[in-house]
Amino acid sequence: MTQTPVAPEKLFAQVLDPVSRANPYPLYARLRETPVSVQEDGTYVVSTYREISLLLHDPRISSDERKSAHGAGALAASGPLSTTPPFIFIDPPEHTRFRRLIMHQFTPQRIRGMQEHIEQTVHALLDARKQQHQLDIVQDFAYPLPVTIICHLLGVPPEDEPRFRVWSSALVRTLDPTESLSEAEVQQAVQSRTQIREYMEKLSAARRTHPQDDLLSGLVAGDDPDGRLPEPDLLATMQLLLIAGHETTVNLITNSMLALLRNPEVLDRLRRNPDLAIPMVEEVLRYDPPVQFRTRTTLTDVPLAGVTIPQGASVALLLAAGDRDPARFVEPDRFWPERDDNEHFGFGGGDHYCVGAPLARLEAVTALKALARHLDGPRLVTDPPPYRRNAALRGPEHLQVAFERLN
Ligand code: HEM
Repeated sequence: MTQTPVAPEKLFAQVLDPVSRANPYPLYARLRETPVSVQEDGTYVVSTYREISLLLHDPRISSDERKSAHGAGALAASGPLSTTPPFIFIDPPEHTRFRRLIMHQFTPQRIRGMQEHIEQTVHALLDARKQQHQLDIVQDFAYPLPVTIICHLLGVPPEDEPRFRVWSSALVRTLDPTESLSEAEVQQAVQSRTQIREYMEKLSAARRTHPQDDLLSGLVAGDDPDGRLPEPDLLATMQLLLIAGHETTVNLITNSMLALLRNPEVLDRLRRNPDLAIPMVEEVLRYDPPVQFRTRTTLTDVPLAGVTIPQGASVALLLAAGDRDPARFVEPDRFWPERDDNEHFGFGGGDHYCVGAPLARLEAVTALKALARHLDGPRLVTDPPPYRRNAALRGPEHLQVAFERLN
């Protein structure tokens, strides 16, 4: 029996449906047939590399959800999630100043200084499993690592880390279009946001009186030539950094391991040449990226690829579809770490390009080198693995890997 193909205007709803989570890539290929397509609910989906790149650099499209009447915008503007937005959700010129203040704290020295702590954490996590023959890469390794690292970087004491895990997974759901959230999920997100804010208020007050060598102390010191972050923006920024700092990195490490186990010849090469981890992580950022799409709002009518996107429209930039565009990449569906032209959208592009990219790369490369070296004879227990519900920040819920020995 042949199945009726999904109508073009329903494709994005199909992408959001959890049944598509394990492999949305065939849907993306269909969406690319129309570079800019309007969906049943009025969302404009942009799915080809060239068009995504143009919009990422176009000042007529806004990251401020309060300027949109749809989806997440409605919640951000007046709904239960309305609050001071973190700088990922604001536009220049405010965005430019806030981002500069934060970048001044993300110094290359501070990130390089994290190397030792990352290595220690990676080895401690693996040592704790020495007697086992099976690991859940997500729960036992890829999740605890970035939580520990981001808390250390920001200045959150280790004993408080478990609380962030709960808050952050509730908040990360709100990055998907609002229609796909249940009432209970919205309530949980609201509650978590209040709890994070209260926690960060106390911590920043403590750092103001007793500064330490961490990012929060740097931000509250207020001695930056660009001025000081107002308190509500400081709290919003800390919340953003905590969430962005681990909800994505967990998927980068897990998706990398999944790609390696499905491509054992690459794993063999990585074992012989650990530095292959560097281009391999870049290839995962293109081939199976943690951030699949971002939404924006048009500030005026924007003509693109034969379509006029009207002012105030909600636009989904399907980064992961652009990264598989055959007009841009040779053999886009092949996992090929040695490809030499790999300018992917894994960390976005334009004004909002990921602040944490150097840290995420350092964590993922260190983690992958260690997994390749220490796991003897690893194999996937379930393929495909079960996925989390999230469509925007997509990744497995569990990745069970069996092995002979953990060296
Ligand atoms: C922005 C991906 C890790 C902090 C972004 C954007 C992407 C992204 C695609 C662009 C968003 C947009 O255009 O709307 C990732 C991935 C990561 C990762 C795939 C890990 C594998 C991190 C880490 C941090 C971080 C570790 C913090 C320590 C941020 C921040 C922004 C951002 C603050 C907003 C920048 C701005 O609006 O100017 N990230 N990220 N990210 N990321 Fe990351």
